[in-house]
Amino acid sequence: SLCDIGFIGAGVMGKNLILNLADNGYRVCAFDLDHHRLEDLLEQDRLERGEQPARIETCNSYTELLARVKAPHLVILSVPAGAPVDDVCNKLLDAGLKADDIVVDTGNSLWTDSVERCKRYEGRLIFFTTAVSGGEVGARFGPSLMPSGDPYAWARIEPVWHAMAAKVDPDSGQPIERFEPGNPVKEGEPCAAYIGPIGSGHYVKMVHNGIEYADMQLICEAYDVMRSALEMSPQEIAAVFREWNKGPLNSYLIDISAEVLGTADPETGSPLVDVILDRAGQKGTGLWTAVSSLEVGCPAPSIAEAVFARSLSTRKVLRTRAAKKLLGPDVEPVPAEQRETVIAQLHDAMYCAKICIYAQGFDLMKLAAREQGWQLNFAEIARIWRAGCIIRAVFLQSISDAYERDHKLSNLLLDDFFIEQIAANQGNWRRAVADASLRGIPVPALSSALNYYDAFRRESLPANLLQAQRDFFGAHTFSRADRPENEKYHVLWSRKDRPMVKV
Ligand code: 6PG
Repeated sequence: SLCDIGFIGAGVMGKNLILNLADNGYRVCAFDLDHHRLEDLLEQDRLERGEQPARIETCNSYTELLARVKAPHLVILSVPAGAPVDDVCNKLLDAGLKADDIVVDTGNSLWTDSVERCKRYEGRLIFFTTAVSGGEVGARFGPSLMPSGDPYAWARIEPVWHAMAAKVDPDSGQPIERFEPGNPVKEGEPCAAYIGPIGSGHYVKMVHNGIEYADMQLICEAYDVMRSALEMSPQEIAAVFREWNKGPLNSYLIDISAEVLGTADPETGSPLVDVILDRAGQKGTGLWTAVSSLEVGCPAPSIAEAVFARSLSTRKVLRTRAAKKLLGPDVEPVPAEQRETVIAQLHDAMYCAKICIYAQGFDLMKLAAREQGWQLNFAEIARIWRAGCIIRAVFLQSISDAYERDHKLSNLLLDDFFIEQIAANQGNWRRAVADASLRGIPVPALSSALNYYDAFRRESLPANLLQAQRDFFGAHTFSRADRPENEKYHVLWSRKDRPMVKV
């Protein structure tokens, strides 16, 4: 009999998505230009299913793939973002793909590329996208899925995505985690929801990654303060993270950070973190988020700082030279009896900064949605991030609740729950940032979030002076606070009497 789904790309993510589909009873025909990957996939299927019949088929060409899959075809791509997506679409068209066949791109594609592709292939195939978060394990046992595109395609894909996605226990709001091949989680709320028109799903995933960058940077800063100011060992810091994981900071990223810090280098036996070179990599999604925030004019400084922190980390040679030349404060490490106090400060600082980072990310999605005409459901977006994805955290339930209370909430910082949380914890946040700065420890995410909060809550900002400066050197004009804003004024600065004219 024919397969339900054609799947192209059996790399790490592809292979795991295929096995996930097979677990959920879908018959998949897989194709990859690299034969070894297909052999690997079949081997994994053999290992997992034991005596049961094969669940996955492989094939040797695009034409064969189409012949072995039911029409109208549903073909899922897991290929590198960029040119390979178009390459595969064109090959599928050459192989006879029809106008009512659906192609789903699951890579980390740039959202504007998805919009263009949808136009480019219109009338020749239905180009749909689904952004996937959750890494290898998520792909295998339940990712968070952010689909977008043609609603007709969504109606066909929805049951498949609901089956594959991570699930949340509706009572506790916690992920249902069961990592057993052949025994997928069927109960609970699926972390897959239709996001909107083409482009919107990948935009939302891009912002997810921007938040991911900032979340990771925050954890690294807390680690750095504990390491540098408190002189704690990685194991001791791991214990703090494990403790934090029981409260409002509970998240997958805190959890894995504790795991990492508790791990030793197999070669030397020293803590693994100590042997890892401190140059951070990046594949682009955090950068895209920062660029987009600048373009739409949405302040998302902590996300941008997290990208800059990665860039600065790569300048290791320069930093090593500067470390020998540039002076900083000469401060004694924190005495042992104050350790608990400083750890508590860091905890509260992390929590407040985290709220601000999510406020920035959600605000960005809101502004972009307005610009693009998308109707994004923020309560739902927060809900599908509660499990499966990299930023999964209990905290996302509170965000979802905030948007349930007020669908039109203009910024998370204005939700009553978050107002209270920051009010209660900001003293420690300020102390943590001030102390790190006095000690010369960089905390760009913690401090930019604090600056964001303080600027956000100021009715007046020094932009009045800035407008005057612009008018002074460039006759850029300004509005008066005591007149309608659309009336523009200019001062004739070069004249001694400096008269003001209405322009
Ligand atoms: C996810 C991750 C995933 C990937 C990022 C990391 O949600 O599963 O975000 O998409 O790991 O692209 O990217 P960097 O290499 O830029 O850190």
